[in-house]
Amino acid sequence: MPTHSIVVAPSILACDFGRLHEEVRRAEAAGADWLHLDIMDGHFVDNISFGPAFVDSVAKVATVPIDVHLMVEHPDHYFPRFVKSAANITVHVEAHHDVRQTLAAIRATGRTCGLSLRPATSFDAVVPYLDQIDVLLVMTVVPGFGGQPFMPEMMAKVQAGREAREARGLQYRIEVDGGINDQTAALSIEQGADTLVAGTSVFGAPDMAEAVRKVRGA
Ligand code: DX5
Ligand code: ZN
Repeated sequence: MPTHSIVVAPSILACDFGRLHEEVRRAEAAGADWLHLDIMDGHFVDNISFGPAFVDSVAKVATVPIDVHLMVEHPDHYFPRFVKSAANITVHVEAHHDVRQTLAAIRATGRTCGLSLRPATSFDAVVPYLDQIDVLLVMTVVPGFGGQPFMPEMMAKVQAGREAREARGLQYRIEVDGGINDQTAALSIEQGADTLVAGTSVFGAPDMAEAVRKVRGA
């Protein structure tokens, strides 16, 4: 029995930035539960995406929660700039910060907090923080770019996340991000994921509503 309802979070990274507000409305009309926004600083990952002003522009028209994924070296320094528009802020365990302190600081703003790990990072790295998070974000590609193939080996971490949640009586969501389409979403849900980030497969689909429905497994 899944403890959480399924959430589908289209990743804005895959939309047409030149028509940002229309793309946000299109995603919501297609059934998006959240919108996922990837912040890349050119240091933590080998890419630069967009910053707080862009997220605020999305928030101007969005009616669903905004899920900010910080792929930055110094999340404790940057996260306050996203508080205004975000519902959830996720940071990486590998970044340069005191993880416990950053998570507590995010929660102190009234937002929920997430913790993510790269494919190369073992599940053990997040274990000390599980009682402090609202979302565990398991990367299913190397972070930095949309459109990469899903790594099925990461399902072991989804399973470990589910087992730890059960064993410790915790409530965090388990989110997967990277290469999610109808098939990889089904596999992830089977292993315990409840929150699916999908960029290319939904924004690139001829019928976005159908694509979102399929990712949801409906
Ligand atoms: C990758 C980002 C993802 C990305 C997913 O670094 O964290 O959120 O937008 O894109 P797709 O669904 O195209 O793999
Ligand atoms: Zn992401």
